[in-house]
Amino acid sequence: MTKVLIATDKPFAPAAVDSIRTVVEGAGYELVLLESYTDKADLLAAVADVDAMIIRSDKATREVIEAAKNLKVIVRAGAGYDNIDLEACTEKGVVAMNTPGQNSNAVAELVFGMMVFLARNGFNGSAGVEVRGKKIGIHAYGNVGRYVGEIAKGFGMEVYAFDPFVAKETIEADGVKVVDSVEELYSTCNYVSLHIPANDKTKNSINFDLLNKMPKGGVLVNTARKEVIDEEGLIQLMDARKDFAYISDIAPDCKEEIEAKFRGRFFFTPKKMGAQTAEANINAGIAGANQIVNYIKNGDETFRVNK
Ligand code: 3PG
Repeated sequence: MTKVLIATDKPFAPAAVDSIRTVVEGAGYELVLLESYTDKADLLAAVADVDAMIIRSDKATREVIEAAKNLKVIVRAGAGYDNIDLEACTEKGVVAMNTPGQNSNAVAELVFGMMVFLARNGFNGSAGVEVRGKKIGIHAYGNVGRYVGEIAKGFGMEVYAFDPFVAKETIEADGVKVVDSVEELYSTCNYVSLHIPANDKTKNSINFDLLNKMPKGGVLVNTARKEVIDEEGLIQLMDARKDFAYISDIAPDCKEEIEAKFRGRFFFTPKKMGAQTAEANINAGIAGANQIVNYIKNGDETFRVNK
């Protein structure tokens, strides 16, 4: 019988697992579950005889792909697939997919949760500031970026975006102003919200020089990936600019240092939780399960991310 594994070190909401089960068992397949694992050996054992798997930020390394001898398709229930060794998948004839857009609203809502938390001094009772009338820059106008723009308008913010891969007219049609360069985005906006993927071009690209362009009181919001930040440059900047704040859904490698030095203008969530809502889990989980069934039954490769 075709076996589908859900391998999530950060589990889906139970309702999402139930929904995935309905799709998988409805197709006549067996569902197996590996949740909250801490040992890579458990993942390597779990993948040994499965035909398909659904993961989140779980690391599908070459070792994992090679251990999964029967694997035909792996779906990252989410947007970013930097956690999958795509080369290994291609070499082993495994189709890798993501589920773009399915968890985006959850991530966008967290952007504003973190912004308001910072603006109100961590809810400590002292007088904070408001976000209305401030400028927010959306760095990459994909599915999350679009929701961020929508919510920002509700907050009464002026919304700007930079994305060389999206047509200017498409962004402007949403009532968002388009700037011509990434430098202009940072020098224009009080808040910048990051939505770029982590790849060879973007890693360490958010550096001292770029962040230093932000106006006084600038805030960088990162719900994307920690790898895009040049952490040395960030520390240097926060040392030099007592007005600058960094809030992140992904703990930086240098979290102890940065937390000790910049208390009150730096915080991170304890575990990446942008996409951690029942709705996002259900949407991404069901999409992943349907994509697996459609691939195995009909060869449908929509959302394939490896060549
Ligand atoms: C994504 O790329 O979809 C988000 O970063 C969510 O990741 P998660 O599924 O690990 O929460």
